[in-house]
Amino acid sequence: MREIGIGLIGCGIVGSGTAALLTDNADLIASRVGAKLVVRRIAVRDLSKIREVSIPAELFTTNVDDVISDPDIDIIAELVGGVDPAKAWIEAAFAAKKQVVTANKELMAKHGHALVQIAQENKLDFYAEGSVAGGIPIIAAMGESLAANRIQAVMGIVNGTTNFILSKMADEGASFDDVLREAQALGYAEADPTADVDAHDARYKIAILASIGFGTPVDESSVISEGIRTITARDIAVAKDLDHVIKLVAVAEQWEDQGTMHVRVHPALLHKDHPLASVNGAYNAVLVRGDGVGDTMFYGRGAGSLPTGSAVVGDLIAVSRNLVSGSTGRVHRPANANLRMLPRELVKSKFYVRMTAKDLPKVLSQVSNVFGDFDVSIESVIQRANNKDEAEIVLITHKCLEESFRGAVDVAERLPVVTGVHNWIRVEA
Ligand SMILES: NC(=O)c1ccc[n+]([C@@H]2O[C@H](COP(=O)([O-])OP(=O)(O)OC[C@H]3O[C@@H](n4cnc5c(N)ncnc54)[C@H](OP(=O)(O)O)[C@@H]3O)[C@@H](O)[C@H]2O)c1
Repeated sequence: MREIGIGLIGCGIVGSGTAALLTDNADLIASRVGAKLVVRRIAVRDLSKIREVSIPAELFTTNVDDVISDPDIDIIAELVGGVDPAKAWIEAAFAAKKQVVTANKELMAKHGHALVQIAQENKLDFYAEGSVAGGIPIIAAMGESLAANRIQAVMGIVNGTTNFILSKMADEGASFDDVLREAQALGYAEADPTADVDAHDARYKIAILASIGFGTPVDESSVISEGIRTITARDIAVAKDLDHVIKLVAVAEQWEDQGTMHVRVHPALLHKDHPLASVNGAYNAVLVRGDGVGDTMFYGRGAGSLPTGSAVVGDLIAVSRNLVSGSTGRVHRPANANLRMLPRELVKSKFYVRMTAKDLPKVLSQVSNVFGDFDVSIESVIQRANNKDEAEIVLITHKCLEESFRGAVDVAERLPVVTGVHNWIRVEA
């Protein structure tokens, strides 16, 4: 049977899951491809490290060029991460006429468009399923199975760490700081949690999905991204009273008739019946709306060794099949839609705002008038006395311009009767 040579750059969490699946399911994979996928070389940083998977020592090298220039390697999987030197490695692999697979979200979000172009020009395959939502096959679904559709919107929970933290805060009524510490101790959050809790990771992922779905390169730095550090146990409890949960959502919408799109990541209140509301713990889910198919939802493990390894090996299998049939470069990914990013001031959202005010007559009407002055109409209001001669006021607005909402909050905060505006959060319908 024909052999297809695989080279791995990186054998950490994702690389070892990839190597484990290639070994454990070798016969099954060979029968599905019509060729054997053989790992020929693995580049790592430290040869002395004990690996999670048993691999002959002679396959390892610390010189990435040993992998890229090996004539017996057909497909290279970049499983290290970051932009430098991963981008240069992938460019070198294309120059050596190798097919490439990656799980690198930062690189795909920042330079995916340019790399796809190089691959297309050279009739090479470049697959990146592992870069978004771990084991969930969302890129293949959007790029191939849903290719008949105009993708109108994508909405997801694409960061397991923040979902774990928010789910635990909701279950235990605990504070963000306490749950973050616990998540770090359990290995669900990094020692430096910035990429997750400040939403950079989710921003990369939604930028990739929007680019693929809308056929427009999305500049990840133009994506609104707000993290979860400001979410309190009180907000979660109030949301629960209102039949909502709070999730970090990544949203991309397009209005083709107007030539615009909008891409954002932020915490949001979701009604408990929303399909994403019951996605808890480290799980991810992505909703895709197409003009033919309607709403579809994809759910699964968003990270981890074997789930992400499953995505990477799925890509290796797809590329191997293309090699066997002589059809690499088959998936054409045009980026010619040229949608403009709508500035945030022009995006309409519903908002939740929680404030406290002196427990006096007509306080509510003073606050409501301010919102009315800014053309922000209010969908619901809850006012209840707390134990400090104060009342807690929670407003949910109808859809309004963010600019108007923020203007109203600024003025309301300065009313003599208002003792504090504690938080505001978008509400997703
Ligand atoms: N972890 C996940 O669940 C997950 C999920 C989806 C996507 N991803 C993405 O997958 C990629 C890999 O993530 P990971 O979690 O597997 O990372 P990781 O566990 O830190 O592994 C990184 C690997 O790269 C190797 N490496 C680092 N610098 C190198 C260099 N200069 N030359 C050769 N090898 C080098 C390391 O070698 P040593 O082992 O010798 O240190 C290690 O094997 C990233 O792009 C990440 O965003 C990760």
